[in-house]
Amino acid sequence: MLDDRVRRVLARLEEEDRAEREQGVARELRARQVERTTGQFLFSLVAPQTDCEVLEVGGSRGYSTIWLAAGVRTFGGRVLSLENDPRKCEAWRTNIAEAGLEAWASLIEGDARETLPAIDDVFDVVFLDAEKEDYEPFFQAARGKVEPGALFVADNVLSHEEALGAYSRARQEDPTLESVTVPLDRGLELSVVLRDVSSDGGSPRKGGGPDLSDSCTGSGGASS
Ligand SMILES: C[S@@+](CC[C@H](N)C(=O)[O-])C[C@H]1O[C@@H](n2cnc3c(N)ncnc32)[C@H](O)[C@@H]1O
Repeated sequence: MLDDRVRRVLARLEEEDRAEREQGVARELRARQVERTTGQFLFSLVAPQTDCEVLEVGGSRGYSTIWLAAGVRTFGGRVLSLENDPRKCEAWRTNIAEAGLEAWASLIEGDARETLPAIDDVFDVVFLDAEKEDYEPFFQAARGKVEPGALFVADNVLSHEEALGAYSRARQEDPTLESVTVPLDRGLELSVVLRDVSSDGGSPRKGGGPDLSDSCTGSGGASS
C-alpha cells in the first residue's frame, strides 16, 4: 500500500539522489538507488502476491526496499534486505521507520557473501542489486532458497552489459528457468524458476510449488 508516509520518504530519497549526482558525490557514498520506474515495477511484481517473501541483496538506504515492502504490505509478506555499508544501514533503518514499514522489512548488516549463504528461509522473489561481479555467486547462493514459481530480478543488466551479459546468458540458457531481459531503465533480468535444480530436491519448505516446466499438457483448454 502506497500511503502518504511512504510517498514522502520516496520523494525525499529521490531528491537526495538527484542532488548527490548533481554534486558529483563519489559513487561509494551515493545511494545508487534504482530509478523510480524500476521501483514502481518492483512494487507491481510483489503487490498482487499473497505472503510474498522477498530477498533483496544490496539495500543501500532503503529506496528499493520501501517499494518492495509497501508492495508486500498489500497481501502479506516480508522483505529481508542485505547491506554491508554501516552508514547506509543506519540510513536504511531511519528511512524504513519513517515510511512506517518496520513490520514488513528487516535488514541483515554485513557482507552478503557471508550472510546470504547462512539464511535458512525460502523466498518468492529475489532482487539482486549489489556489485556486478557478485551477481553470479549471489544467484547461486539464493538458487537453493527458492521453489518453482519464484522470481529472480537482477538490475543493471543493460547498463552494465559487459559485466552482466554473461549473467543474462547463463539464466536464459538454464532449462530450469524462463528468463527474459526487460529493457526498463538500467535493464532487468527476470528469471522465473520452473523446477528445482536437482530432481531429488528434498522436501519443499514453504508448502511446495508446481513444476512449471510442462504445465500446459493437462486436460481442458482450447488448443491453438
Ligand atoms: C546499487 S546499490 C543498491 C541500491 C538499492 N537497491 C536501492 O535501489 O535503493 C548497491 C548496494 O549494495 C551494497 N553492497 C555491495 N556489495 C555488497 C555485499 N557484498 N554485501 C552486502 N551489500 C553489498 C552497497 O553497499 C550498495 O549500498
